[in-house]
Amino acid sequence: MALFVAFGGGWMADRLVGVSYPDAPAYKPADLDQPVDLAALQRSWPAGLTAPGDHNRLAGYLRAVDRGAIPPPAAGAAAAVPAAPPPDLGTLLASADPARGKSVAGVCASCHTFDQGGADRTGPNLWGVVGRDVASHSGFAYSPAIGTHPGNWTYEELDRYLASPARAIPGNKMAFAGIRRPQDRANLLAYLGSLGSAGVPKPAPKAEPAAGAGGD
Ligand code: HEC
Repeated sequence: MALFVAFGGGWMADRLVGVSYPDAPAYKPADLDQPVDLAALQRSWPAGLTAPGDHNRLAGYLRAVDRGAIPPPAAGAAAAVPAAPPPDLGTLLASADPARGKSVAGVCASCHTFDQGGADRTGPNLWGVVGRDVASHSGFAYSPAIGTHPGNWTYEELDRYLASPARAIPGNKMAFAGIRRPQDRANLLAYLGSLGSAGVPKPAPKAEPAAGAGGD
């Protein structure tokens, strides 16, 4: 009788209440397997995974999704990506504005002077820097990193350096993060080029792609 109550009672209760066991865990966060736009994520990499929980959401999605069902990047999207790169330096320089560049150069003024014969500060005087040999301003004590850097300051080299001094010449001691926008750098270079560097050749604008890129 006791056994009947123990097992039979359980069986009876199941029939009466109709227990159903879910096949997915109930604690799973709701949006874990929501579709993630993988193409957009790839385009903005690595900036796309910054919000808290983004990594979990992506991992959850990739675990839940049938991989065969992930749509391949659309043909149009694939074509749009190479059409997007910023204009080359020559193109930017052709329409660059030295007056705007002069105001960009305000951020350099705590460390550099720009006038002919101007004093060295934390950094060397920059009159005529376009075209001059790297680390060649007499009287300034350059770091070994930049002192052994070969070549001269072409527009292209300066553009690379000013985009990220630390990356362009690792170990140099210009404590400056860099100027991110290509247009700002082009304006700045146009200004620097107007300071006793008139003869230095500018890179030629690259030819427009033959078909259909169209403006920007
Ligand atoms: C915090 C100070 C600081 C700021 C701000 C700064 N620089 Fe410099 N810069 C230096 C120092 C220091 C050096 C020398 C680096 C070395 O010796 O490694 C240098 C070197 C340079 C050189 C190489 C010069 C040569 O003779 O080879 C250029 C070009 C230059 N800076 C341009 C700029 C421009 C343009 C800006 C503003 C957008 C700027 N710098 C902002 C400190 C600074």
